[in-house]
Amino acid sequence: MAVGVFDSGLGGLTVLDAVQKRLPDVAFVYYGDNAHTPYGVRDAEDIFQLTCRGVERLWAEGCDLVIVACNTASAVALKRMQETWLPPDKRALGVFVPLIEALTERQWGDNSPPREVAVKHVALFATPATVSSRAFQRELAFRAIGVDVEAQPCGGVVDAIEQGDEILAEALVRSHVEALKRRMPHPEAAILGCTHYPLMEHTFQEALGPQVRVYSQANLVAESLADYLTRRPEMLGSGSRSVNLTTGDPAQVSARATQFLRRGVAFEAA
Ligand code: DGL
Repeated sequence: MAVGVFDSGLGGLTVLDAVQKRLPDVAFVYYGDNAHTPYGVRDAEDIFQLTCRGVERLWAEGCDLVIVACNTASAVALKRMQETWLPPDKRALGVFVPLIEALTERQWGDNSPPREVAVKHVALFATPATVSSRAFQRELAFRAIGVDVEAQPCGGVVDAIEQGDEILAEALVRSHVEALKRRMPHPEAAILGCTHYPLMEHTFQEALGPQVRVYSQANLVAESLADYLTRRPEMLGSGSRSVNLTTGDPAQVSARATQFLRRGVAFEAA
């Protein structure tokens, strides 16, 4: 009964935390590709190859279903993986769609035509690769009309988080929010389109102001996974151990994960 959670590094831990709380009886295997983070500045081929390698490692742990808890990989590699690479008995689910369903007030699987929604001005904060893929705008256009999206590529934030430099991460978040506000002074909603950013959610909210509703993915993804597993229980793989794997240095990654999640988190070598 195991499900895999993949990220380029520490960011997917925000999703892991939420899915573990929502589904306490399921074993989760986490794979952080800390040796190759950040993905957000890599090209599409590189992101595809690295993501496939991580997902294969999770199969070896008995996880037939993998949550790609990385927006960059979801935006840049997931479609190609689903169309050309995944065997029929495996699934990989991304983290974009639950977020867009929440923003557009849709239920899972609601495929009705795009319609007007309450929010009109949305700020998107994501990695450079996610922003340039325009995957968020594409998915949104299937569901909503008349929404103005201003996207801010947040260079440096993932690096700072991975290096454990909270002060730098905070300063970068504030400057990215300021840059976005120069182009969209009054967003109604802000999307944290990178799973690392919930670790800085407080800073985003403070810089944006209390009137801006900040959407982050962890709980939305947890709900949608719970829903998926009630419909597809056979996708719970044969694995039984919960473990956190990293391609980086396990001691260093454990220390940083513990610092950011403010609870003990231990990693072993992938
Ligand atoms: N957490 C990944 C995401 O959601 C970060 C990508 C990166 O490594 O740059 O996009």
